Amino acid sequence: MKKDTNIWLGNNNTDKLFWDSQSQRSPHLVLIGGSGSGKTETLKVISMELKNKKVSTLIIDFHNDFTILADNLIKLDNTTIHPLEIQVGERPIDVTYKIAKIFAKIFSLGEIQEAIIREAIKTFYQDSKIKDLKKENSGNFKLLPFSHFKEILENNFERRKTESLLAKLSIVFDTDIFMDAKETSLPFNTMTTQVSVIQLKEFPTDEIKSMIAEIILNKLINYFYLKGQSKEGIELFCIIDEAHRVTYEGSPVDLLLRESRKYGVGVILASQRPTDFSETILANVGTIMSFQCSLAKDAKYLSNKSIRTRKMFYQVCIRKLFKKIKNHTN
Ligand SMILES: Nc1ncnc2c1ncn2[C@@H]1O[C@H](COP(=O)(O)OP(=O)(O)OP(=O)(O)O)[C@@H](O)[C@H]1O
Ligand SMILES: [Mg+2]
Repeated sequence: MKKDTNIWLGNNNTDKLFWDSQSQRSPHLVLIGGSGSGKTETLKVISMELKNKKVSTLIIDFHNDFTILADNLIKLDNTTIHPLEIQVGERPIDVTYKIAKIFAKIFSLGEIQEAIIREAIKTFYQDSKIKDLKKENSGNFKLLPFSHFKEILENNFERRKTESLLAKLSIVFDTDIFMDAKETSLPFNTMTTQVSVIQLKEFPTDEIKSMIAEIILNKLINYFYLKGQSKEGIELFCIIDEAHRVTYEGSPVDLLLRESRKYGVGVILASQRPTDFSETILANVGTIMSFQCSLAKDAKYLSNKSIRTRKMFYQVCIRKLFKKIKNHTN
C-alpha cells in the first residue's frame, strides 16, 4: 500500500498549504529562492514531516545544516570511495564516460583533458584485467586501488599533455577517501532508512564535496536499479540543498530525476536561481516552490505562464513555518 505523503508546509494567510508528491505528475520538488529566503529551513520542515509519515530521507549536506535532524549521521571518515568502481550490472565503458564527465564538469576540464581521463580509465580497467569494456559486471570484477589511476596519468602520457590536468586534479590525489580506496564502502542499507545525513563539510574544497556527492548519487541510482521497481510508491526522498553544485545537464541528478520514481525514490533540490537547474531537471519535477527571488528576471522567469508547473507554485508563509521548525527542534 502506498504511504500517505501529504505534507503540511505552513499557512498562506488562512489557507493551510500542503504538498503531496504522489498527487503530482512527478514526485520531485525544486525549491528556488534568493539567499536567506528560507530554503534550508523549509527543507528541514519537509524532512521532519516526511519522517512523521514514515518516509525516509537521504540528505546530502554540504554545510552540516541538517545534523540536528539525523537518525543516521554519515560522516564518511572511515569510508573509502573508489570513483572507478563498476557496480554489478554496470558496463565499464558506461562508467568510463560517466566518471570522465563528472571529472570534466567539476574540474572544468577541456575536451582533450576529458578524453585523456577516458583513456586513462580504460587503461585502468585493462590493468585490472577487464578485457571487454562492453561486458556488464556480473560481480567478479576486481579493481586495482584508485591510486593506480594517478600512476597511469603520470606515466602513460606525455608530460606536456597531462601537466595542467594533473595540477587540476591534485586535490583528488591528496584526498584519502579516494586514494586509500581499494573499493567503495558506503552503508547503502543504512543510508536509505530513516533520516540519513551525509556530512560533507569537512572535505577540503567545493570540488571534492561535489565529486563525493556525485559519485554517491551515481551509486545510489545503481543500488536502486538492483533493488528493482517499487510497488509501494515513494519510500525515500533524496534531498540536496545547494544543488547548483550537482545539477548540470547530463549529471547523475538528471538521471535520478528521470529514473528514480519507479524505484520509489523522489528528489528534492534547492538552489538560489532557476538557471542553477538544467532544463531536464525543470522538465522532470512535478512541483516548483518559489521563494523570494532577489533578481527581477528570476522572479519573472518563475512566474512566467509558459512554465507548466505554474499552478503549483507556492508562496510559503515564512513566519508560520519558522514557528513550526522551532516547535520541532525545541
Ligand atoms: N520560516 C521562517 N520564518 C522565520 N524566519 C525564517 C524562516 N525560515 C528561515 N528563516 C530565517 O532566515 C534565515 C535564512 O534562512 P535559510 O537558511 O533557510 O535561507 P536559505 O534560503 O537557505 O539561504 P541560502 O541560499 O543563503 O542558503 C534563517 O537563519 C532564519 O533565521
Ligand atoms: Mg540554505
